Amino acid sequence: KTIRLFCPATVANVSCGFDVLGLCLDTIGDEMIVTQTTQKGIRIIGITGADLPLKAAQNVAGVAAMALLEVLQPDCGFDIVIHKKIKAGSGIGSSAASAAGAVFGINMLLGNPFSTKELIPFAMKGEAVASGCEHADNVAPALLGGFTLIRGYEPLDVVALPVPSELYATVIHPQIELKTSEMRAVLPTQIPLKKAIAQSGNLGGLIAGLYTSDYELIRRSLHDRIVEPLRAGYIPGFDLIKETALQHGALGVGISGSGPSVFTLNKDLETTHKVAFAMEQKYTETGIPFEVYVSPV
Ligand code: HSE
Repeated sequence: KTIRLFCPATVANVSCGFDVLGLCLDTIGDEMIVTQTTQKGIRIIGITGADLPLKAAQNVAGVAAMALLEVLQPDCGFDIVIHKKIKAGSGIGSSAASAAGAVFGINMLLGNPFSTKELIPFAMKGEAVASGCEHADNVAPALLGGFTLIRGYEPLDVVALPVPSELYATVIHPQIELKTSEMRAVLPTQIPLKKAIAQSGNLGGLIAGLYTSDYELIRRSLHDRIVEPLRAGYIPGFDLIKETALQHGALGVGISGSGPSVFTLNKDLETTHKVAFAMEQKYTETGIPFEVYVSPV
């Protein structure tokens, strides 16, 4: 039995939800082929598009898959082929896509012993190989789609949020690599109460906006005064991108995960294309190679 999967890219944090919010980019992602075999264990038999370890124990998809097999103990094994389209270190959940894809594919081939939500902790094990910490804000939306909130980590409590029908994202990916572990090292361990208050107000506002399709409330809520100011300096042209996108009607602009990709959320496809085109034109002036994507959320 073989299954062919689309493993979507994701935007973590979404400005006001550091480590707790994530969204799925429906049209950007990797392809994965998982085949059930009689030989026990996990074999990564091929990877195209990226230079990643084939050894299962060192590979994000392999580690996530092995964690799942350890619990299920099936009388079979799995071969995995990955066609990477999401670049590692791009900030749109490259490792999460692989981890989520592997556990989703195996679970399906075994007749869905787990619900999709129950797969999140296994995918997190794979994600930890890449980022050095088990965070779920990319694997949760990669598995569940749409917007997700990690209400709590201990125990893990993931809430799938509604997505207004006209919500679209753009992503601009300057072709530099930023390591999540290094981008976490620049963050403080404590924050002033004032900033915590502003952040919780915005997080609540964004979620209320998603439930009521209130795009203006979403616009007012897409701010991050805690993490963005500390990470923005590592992304060449961040202020230029932000200013341009906001000028052309984006609801909000922020760092995607730990960067360097920058996302915008926009109402309707026309505005989205306008924003994408403007960012593309403006960023060309920097001389830094980049890619721009557009996706419904
Ligand atoms: N929430 C994580 C961070 C996501 O910003 O460090 C990393 O992709």
